[in-house]
Amino acid sequence: MTLETVRIGRIQRLKALFTFQQVLDRFEMISDRSSGLVKVEGGRASYYVVWEPELLERILVTHQHLYVKSAQYRLLAVVVGEGLLTSEGELWTSQRRVIQPMFAKRHLGRFAEHMTDAIGDFVRVWSTLDDGDQVDAATAMNTLTLDVVGRALFGAELSGKAARLGPVLTSGLRAGVRAARLQLLFDPPPWLVEKAPGLVRRAPSWTPGLRWIHDVLRTTDEVVEEIIAGHPEGSDDLLGLLLAARDPETGEAMPRRQVRDELMTFLLAGHETTANGLAWLWYLLATHPEVRDRVCDEVEDVLRGRVPTAGDADKLVWTAAAFQEALRLYPPAWSIVRTTAEADTLNGHEIPAGTSIVIPVYLAHRNPRLWPDPDRFDPRRFLPGRSQPPRFAYLPFGGGRRICVGAGFAVMEATLIIAMLVQRFRLELREGAEVVPEATVTLRPRNGIPMTLHKVV
Ligand code: HEM
Repeated sequence: MTLETVRIGRIQRLKALFTFQQVLDRFEMISDRSSGLVKVEGGRASYYVVWEPELLERILVTHQHLYVKSAQYRLLAVVVGEGLLTSEGELWTSQRRVIQPMFAKRHLGRFAEHMTDAIGDFVRVWSTLDDGDQVDAATAMNTLTLDVVGRALFGAELSGKAARLGPVLTSGLRAGVRAARLQLLFDPPPWLVEKAPGLVRRAPSWTPGLRWIHDVLRTTDEVVEEIIAGHPEGSDDLLGLLLAARDPETGEAMPRRQVRDELMTFLLAGHETTANGLAWLWYLLATHPEVRDRVCDEVEDVLRGRVPTAGDADKLVWTAAAFQEALRLYPPAWSIVRTTAEADTLNGHEIPAGTSIVIPVYLAHRNPRLWPDPDRFDPRRFLPGRSQPPRFAYLPFGGGRRICVGAGFAVMEATLIIAMLVQRFRLELREGAEVVPEATVTLRPRNGIPMTLHKVV
């Protein structure tokens, strides 16, 4: 098969540093070529864009041993350290073995009560607002999902700390993305990228350009230490599991640094993505009242005004489907990037070792050959019993062995949040609100989702 090649000039790459629309235009220009595999040539930094499901299955599953997470994850490691999201090799394997069982479907029920407690407190705060008050759904969902993660995974109340953590994490993410895009532009040597987390941490805090990151690290380290210090001994949450874990060979406890890195990883990976998915969900429900009515009717039928349980979450099929459809149209992890550790062959083309492979999840989710009427918000696509699109046409949680460990947790959490909020409130998009996607590490609304809150009586 012939290989499509797109050449991208330095100016275009520079523009991509700034707006998601430009990133999108570029991807859309690429997707006009239908082979599902395109080489993008841009000076020294060339990479491949892949969105064909069979190729994705090869990269993420059958030939995943030929791929590692990309250099961009090394930049993320500056903030989150070597936790489950960023680590590789033996460290990743042993940590995933310890952590994964906690998130198995049959164990998810244990999180539900923590979730509904946090949502209940959030509902009480919103109940103090007046009908017609203005809220930003994006900020609100960030506060709420951080609180959920804190209570469910670490036995900690984070709502107070959210005010401290939120802004530093946001600025950290924004700067991280700029750094990642600059990296695509200037193509630094791999050894430098590999060493970046250690170099940045060890550099004096006054080093020009690094002050912000030392501020981020100081705040996050302080919060993590407070969480560990205040953790109730013997709790069976994620932090309890990490503190109790023993190396099967040496019998040693998990090093404190590793516990810190996992905590940071789950704090970040466990709230920001779900919050953005929910922010888009409220936007979509407000702009599709017929779907919102369907969700509200279902919540009323199943719950009759009471607080949901884990068992109810399975019955709220329209509610869960609306969230899954929001993740299709606005996938928080809008692209996934890998690097070839060894050469591979895609569609008959040799891809040398050390090449970046970009999986544009956003594009894959709107591929017109796989999704009829792809831009339409239609949760029925995800109702039980419907014929499903091919594997890897839908990958909001990634795929293969590095698939999101918190996927089931996130869907249950979002279902409970939507159900409990529609029981009490109706959110309307504020008139004239301009909702613009922004591609940081996650796909978020740049100016939030400005909404008017109405109370449901
Ligand atoms: C809608 C919400 C979420 C979305 C869209 C999402 C998306 C993703 C994606 C795409 C990956 C794979 C990245 C890659 O392969 O490069 C991932 C990994 C991960 N996610 Fe999530 N996630 C969500 C919620 C959560 C939650 C709630 C948690 C924790 C409770 C979590 C924890 C993690 C962790 C630890 C990893 C790394 C897994 C590994 O490599 O072993 N995520 N997530």
